[in-house]
Amino acid sequence: MSRHLLVTGGAGFIGSDFVHYVMAHTEDTVTVLDKLTYAGSRDSLAGVPSDRVRLVVGDIADAATVEPLVAEADAVVHYAAESHNDNSLDDPSPFLTTNLIGTFTLLEAARRHGTRFHHISTDEVYGDLALDDPERFTEATPYNPSSPYSATKAGSDLLVRAWVRSFGVQATLSNCSNNYGPRQHVEKFIPRQITNLIDGIRPRLYGAGQNVRDWIHADDHSSAVLTILDRGTIGETYLIGADGEKSNKEVVELILDLMGRESTDYEHVTDRPGHDLRYAIDSTRLRTELGWQPSFRDFEAGLAATVAWYRENEAWWRPQKAATEAKYAKVGQ
Ligand code: NAD
Ligand code: DAU
Repeated sequence: MSRHLLVTGGAGFIGSDFVHYVMAHTEDTVTVLDKLTYAGSRDSLAGVPSDRVRLVVGDIADAATVEPLVAEADAVVHYAAESHNDNSLDDPSPFLTTNLIGTFTLLEAARRHGTRFHHISTDEVYGDLALDDPERFTEATPYNPSSPYSATKAGSDLLVRAWVRSFGVQATLSNCSNNYGPRQHVEKFIPRQITNLIDGIRPRLYGAGQNVRDWIHADDHSSAVLTILDRGTIGETYLIGADGEKSNKEVVELILDLMGRESTDYEHVTDRPGHDLRYAIDSTRLRTELGWQPSFRDFEAGLAATVAWYRENEAWWRPQKAATEAKYAKVGQ
């Protein structure tokens, strides 16, 4: 049976991947609610069938906009957020408005209409791990966020949990590790280095480059979210990860290699203040309880496809590039 989904932030990187994924794997229809901030783009929804996907340009923190869209939806899948740590260090205020007030506004509408709700969150709510820590994050790891971004995501998770317990909202939550793939804004690590190299600029590694991220392809994130929406237990949290730990230095070296350059041809730049050292996800619960498995198991192949996408889709990313680099230049990055 087909559903009607309200996908917030569906013109951003992961939200648009989910919309494309839903079009390919279900009969569902979708309304995307997206403010089209600097991070959102109509072009990210190019190719989706117009009789199944509608884009509403609006703010999740605006109750009058949100109310009728939640009322008509069978489920809300909530991706919209201010998502970039470096921006949150420059100006935290939009992170509070969107990530906290926006989530609150959606939850209140879901409460009024009894709408199923899935909240998208991040592994960053757990803080960071030592490089040699044998443990990885699990659903039981205590919250310990480091940046204004991750603190507001942690706050949004706690709001969702409270609305489940206090008001019976039919919500599930997921916390995913670092995504890569097509249509990611060039402010983020992997697309920044790929597009730098296309422009003849050397990749930029924060600090020593020892920091570890646990990479997952955005399509695997999308398949996990659809699995939780279909079969997850209300009130529960599921961690999403694909065993993809790599240091930033290793990733830069791989990109250089894939783009035909010497693996040492990068620069160390000013480190991020409060930079989390390592994230690592144990996704046993999602795999054993809901039977989910990642499809992208070869990071190098996924990265090669991502490099090819940025080479072939310069019209998509070019408008973002100069302003992004100018912003980084101001802080020596
Ligand atoms: P993104 O920055 O690429 O996209 C965010 C989207 O939200 C944009 O289209 C933007 O226009 C929209 N938006 C922002 N503020 C809005 C508002 N007030 N009202 C309506 N729309 C608004 O982000 P992303 O990387 O795709 O992340 C999406 C979600 O996934 C976020 O909740 C993020 O915390 C989470 N997440 C991201 C990652 C990752 O690696 N990128 C990993 C785990 C979880
Ligand atoms: O873990 C999930 C999180 O992953 C999501 O919640 C965030 O929305 C998403 O942005 C991402 O956060 P990170 O801060 O890990 O991603 P970012 O792409 O900004 O940086 C990845 C790593 O690369 C991090 O250790 C910082 C480093 N870095 C980043 C940039 C932009 C560099 O070394 N050089 C760079 O130029």
